[in-house]
Amino acid sequence: MGIMILGIESSCDDTSAAVIREGVLLSNVIASQSVHEAYGGVVPELASRAHQQNIIPVVSEAIKRAGIDKSELDAIAFTRGPGLMGSLLVGTSFAKGLSMSLSIPMIEVNHLQAHVLAHFIKDAPDDNHQPAYPFLCLLVSGGNSQIIKVKAYNDMEVIGQTIDDAAGEAFDKCAKVMGLGYPGGPIVNRLANEGNPNTFVFSKPHISDYNYSFSGLKTSFLYTLRDRLAVDPDFIEKNKADLCASLQETVIDILMTKLRKAAKDLNINEVAVAGGVSANTGLRDAFHDHARRYGWKIHIPKFAYTTDNAAMVAITGYYKYMDKDFCSMEATPFSRVVL
Ligand code: KG4
Repeated sequence: MGIMILGIESSCDDTSAAVIREGVLLSNVIASQSVHEAYGGVVPELASRAHQQNIIPVVSEAIKRAGIDKSELDAIAFTRGPGLMGSLLVGTSFAKGLSMSLSIPMIEVNHLQAHVLAHFIKDAPDDNHQPAYPFLCLLVSGGNSQIIKVKAYNDMEVIGQTIDDAAGEAFDKCAKVMGLGYPGGPIVNRLANEGNPNTFVFSKPHISDYNYSFSGLKTSFLYTLRDRLAVDPDFIEKNKADLCASLQETVIDILMTKLRKAAKDLNINEVAVAGGVSANTGLRDAFHDHARRYGWKIHIPKFAYTTDNAAMVAITGYYKYMDKDFCSMEATPFSRVVL
């Protein structure tokens, strides 16, 4: 037996459901929405509709793959926010309906907290790779770039964050001006592997504390393209790999410089990374490099837990269940929030 939690994630363009028993993952089903590719970005209205179509089959499949019956569930954890309102409404409403029909409690989950707690998902009962508190977590996604001091599962302090664009946004926007597909991050990563990171120099921000800024880099990237294209119309095509490698190197340098400063100032050497951009292989290499050079104990999520998934919602729900931290039927989604 053991506490069994169903997690539901629908904050953006992935419909996902997962089952966790006593912190151990039994299933994690994700339906991604390819409909947005043609538009070069997520179209909120289309995302909501796709969630409506996907939610029942995705939840059914998660329960089936877990090898359980829905009557064995102890609670339903769902992403309440932040995210797209229409998308969140689908998951929230579904969680309410299922919770009422099964007469089990509902647990609201903060999407950002869930990204951090993805590090606590166990693949087997004897899986003990979890970070020790306190640790620092670099949370980097399409909407966030934050350094979080994690003191407990429910005690997180954002000590630094972007004042404009997020790191993922910088990748996506620069990819867009090069005419690469969407989302641009993975494409830039792939091309960067074939390029020279020292070919181009882009501007880096000079801002205080542990905060980030990526809008200057984006502008500097744009101006480089504009100036070089004026001389050679095939400039992008000829230099794609080097442009991607130099861009990626700059983003990673910006991210790691502030993280290094935070780790040193706070004297914390347990450091994790989370969110969609944590799939970036250059960033992962930088973490391994820092582990060697500075003695960091690093935590890098499996690729399956980097982008939006319900396993991270279910594990957060599991911890909140242990504290009997349930929510009422009046819970409504929120689109924006800090941790
Ligand atoms: O966490 P996530 O799936 O969604 C939210 O923003 O909540 O993150 C998506 C972001 C996108 O900006 C995408 O381009 C970026 O993560 N991303 C990557 C890579 N894989 C995904 N960025 C750089 N390199 C990657 N390999």
